[in-house]
Amino acid sequence: MDFPPDFRWGSSTSSYQIEGGAQEGGRGESIWDHFCAEPGRIRDGTSGAVACDHYHRWPQDLDLARDLGTNAYRFSIAWPRIFAQGGTGAPLRNGLDFYSRLVDGMLERGLEPWATLYHWDLPQALQAHGGWAQRATMDAFTHYTDAVTRHLGDRIKHWITHNEPWCTAFHGNYEGVHAPGLKDFKTALQVCHHVLVSHGMATAAIRANVPQARVGAALSLHPLKSASNSAQDLAATRRHDGLRNRWFLDPLHGRGYPQDVWDLLGAQAPTVAADDMALMATPTDFLGVNYYFPEIVADAPGQGPMQTRVVDCDQVERTGFGWEVSPQGMVDLLQRVHADYQPRAIYLTENGSSYDDVRTPDGRIEDHQRMHYLQRHLRAVHQALQVGVPIQGYFAWSLLDNFEWAEGYLRRFGLVYVDFATQQRQLKMSGQWYQSFLKEETPC
Ligand code: FCB
Repeated sequence: MDFPPDFRWGSSTSSYQIEGGAQEGGRGESIWDHFCAEPGRIRDGTSGAVACDHYHRWPQDLDLARDLGTNAYRFSIAWPRIFAQGGTGAPLRNGLDFYSRLVDGMLERGLEPWATLYHWDLPQALQAHGGWAQRATMDAFTHYTDAVTRHLGDRIKHWITHNEPWCTAFHGNYEGVHAPGLKDFKTALQVCHHVLVSHGMATAAIRANVPQARVGAALSLHPLKSASNSAQDLAATRRHDGLRNRWFLDPLHGRGYPQDVWDLLGAQAPTVAADDMALMATPTDFLGVNYYFPEIVADAPGQGPMQTRVVDCDQVERTGFGWEVSPQGMVDLLQRVHADYQPRAIYLTENGSSYDDVRTPDGRIEDHQRMHYLQRHLRAVHQALQVGVPIQGYFAWSLLDNFEWAEGYLRRFGLVYVDFATQQRQLKMSGQWYQSFLKEETPC
């Protein structure tokens, strides 16, 4: 199977999920530190205070990424390490130095750095003033982006503004299952709007500081299937798609918010200022797609903001986390995004699976299912490439087992197993397979 010669092969992580070192270098509190401290928020009662201790063990972790044979590495920068209170003062030297060393470490190992600016760890001090529901947070984000790109832009050329704005907005402010834990739909929509506008503001700041920068956002997108061919379910699927996918894809591609969804929102619709639509549509160089699973949608009058529900279908294959496994869904999604929006380039910025890994008596992690998942999804990437979707890279989620948000340490997504009691790392069978695939020893 041929992939383009300049294809980016990587793995992905995020700051709060792996770094730990929560008290070090003058780092401020993030909304996730705050959220984890509230009883009942995290399934196993843990937090990312230590996580993979990557803050101290990063050289070893970068060695692992290099040894996999990857040529790129996606990580995120913790905003509270750069501005403890999130404000508009001077950045923290220690924070900038940490990421500077980390990026040098990547370059020394032949890993192209792909930095995400916001992977959910907002400074708590900003949340205390309303967080993303306030326009001031967009200015603070732009200020933070400016500081980081001034210091690291000589070495980092690939920038992702936001990771999964849907999750920031709706998991965090409507469903209340992620930080900051609010349950208010109107707030969630306003948060969503400010996140999307700040994406445009940050894109301009990056371009001003980084010659040859390539910039994009990473969206969590889902291919949808209608539960039946009834007119009701088909219309419901269209509405569900409206808030899940088009609410993000349309404004980023210059079409403004989808009118059908806007009309349904009524008084809940966000407040939009004069230049916001143009800012959201700031041209980007690529679209990051995080793909995990498809959804089956049915009409559900009175249920949820779009009067839809996601149907549990017991006939499908699922990961340990219960997420449907559908490589074909990935092909469908990529083809759809390409046909409807024509982004210049697409990167799979996340894709992966969680299973309960157990050590064999002789100490190996034989994660056949994850390996199989990876193989089938790489075939799907190849299939999408063959029909003309401009995919330029694939980042596996994740390099390491890590802190999986509200699930704590109960979900393992890594190609590398982490024993959280000892912080020992061990390559799983899936990681070994990825390694031999990248060395072109094994086809997928
Ligand atoms: C995505 C997140 C990432 C990780 C994976 C499993 O939604 O971006 O941090 O938690 O899911």
